[in-house]
Amino acid sequence: MPCRTCGDPTCPSWNECQRCHTPLGSPAVTPGLPTYPVHNIGLPGHPGLGRAGHGGARGRPHPAAAGDHADSGRCGDGVAAGWWHDRGMTELVGLADVRAARELLAGVTRTTPLEPSRPLSAALGGPVWLKCENVQRAGSYKVRGAYVRISRLSADERASGVVAASAGNHAQGVALAAGLVGTHATVFMPVNAPLPKVAATKGYGAQVELAGNTVDESLVAAQAYAERTGAVLIHPFDHRDVIAGQGTVALEILEQCPEVRTIVTGVGGGGLISGIAVAAKALRPDLRVVGVQAASAAAFPLSLRAGAPVRLPAFSTIADGIAVGRPGEITFDHVRALVDEIVTVSEEDISRALLMLLERGKQVVEPAGAVGVAALLAGVVEVATPVVAVLSGGNIDPLLMMRVIEHGLAAAGRYLRVTVRCPDRPGQLAALLAEIAEHRANVVDVEHQRANPHLRLGEVEVALSVETRGVEHSDTLISALRASGYQVVFAPEA
Ligand SMILES: Cc1ncc(COP(=O)(O)O)c(C=O)c1O
Repeated sequence: MPCRTCGDPTCPSWNECQRCHTPLGSPAVTPGLPTYPVHNIGLPGHPGLGRAGHGGARGRPHPAAAGDHADSGRCGDGVAAGWWHDRGMTELVGLADVRAARELLAGVTRTTPLEPSRPLSAALGGPVWLKCENVQRAGSYKVRGAYVRISRLSADERASGVVAASAGNHAQGVALAAGLVGTHATVFMPVNAPLPKVAATKGYGAQVELAGNTVDESLVAAQAYAERTGAVLIHPFDHRDVIAGQGTVALEILEQCPEVRTIVTGVGGGGLISGIAVAAKALRPDLRVVGVQAASAAAFPLSLRAGAPVRLPAFSTIADGIAVGRPGEITFDHVRALVDEIVTVSEEDISRALLMLLERGKQVVEPAGAVGVAALLAGVVEVATPVVAVLSGGNIDPLLMMRVIEHGLAAAGRYLRVTVRCPDRPGQLAALLAEIAEHRANVVDVEHQRANPHLRLGEVEVALSVETRGVEHSDTLISALRASGYQVVFAPEA
């Protein structure tokens, strides 16, 4: 009998609908209310809460797992033409869509390496691998979805060109894909988009327009442009072709590490994790798929709790690639149906992860690309090993890289900024530096100030930037300075 909630005529007379899992024979569920169990979203009091939280999808078949024949329906184009479509369960992308996307991408994208991570494996007590999409063409996985979407446009659509909005990676993916397909791209980027990303996007041949303070605002400008010119809007995440393209990352992971038990990846609008979850759950229903958002830009936990995409009133994170204020409609349904857990990480967690990846892994990764590793390092997700963390992008502005390294060193207690007051006597500065040297800390910067209204006559202030071996070393140094009679006026809590 057909399902009374989703209307799926193929639902056989089992206990529950094989598409939306409503018990058959039960009253229809109002569209807009969850038809899938809401998974562990790391929220206090949520029934699924727990570091070892298991998603409701475990142990039951899901739409994509039903096999390739479950992939037939396509609702993407209607969605793409509009902006956000009416709330209601969307047809999920299927394994066959992801496989078809992979065929399209043959010879276009790189099969990126899967590298073992010794420090993470030691920290987690089992093998941890890094899926290096930071070395993908155009520097991130984004070209996968963009190419699949653009290569499927009709000749007429290609003639009108494409338009996109992005903080950077989607911009580069669209610009590269449009060039490969032979159509023209216009890309709207936030006014504060990192200059190297703007330059790279132009370098791939796109016309760049700076509009809005956030990607959401750029999206509005891009949509207006699409309506004005007839250019086809290439959504960064909320389109079936884009999701299918991103899902090819999981096909590669499963070939490179068939024994993988957990995949951890960053989440912005949800396109990457949706695609990964489709392929992973179809091929390995027991495989855990965990998403990570920046705590200060985490629209998914809120939305999953609400049962529909919710817009954050404000958000800001160094992980510009995942600074998205609202999940997509289609991606929301995929995440709700297929993803086991969404966790969040702090800005400190992200900068620590970037530093670790650079220092120990020799990997140049951008903040959004490092949130999976950040979650593993921070211990906010309990994982079954082997784990694969997706390094989803490597496009980092060198200036941000400098700030992140400094911040990461400080977060790891290895970069101490301390201000010391001492008597204004000849030789006092040398004595202070000698004391620091005695503790084998390395002074990187010194600022000696006498003309400060807060200082007493005959007193000077010395602001120091010091490299240490970690939190304990910093604490010992501060205590030693205090014990020698220096007044430490600004130092982290001991
Ligand atoms: C490097 C990087 N990682 C992750 C994401 C998240 O992607 P999605 O919006 O598909 O969740 C993005 C989005 O642009 C990104 O640039």
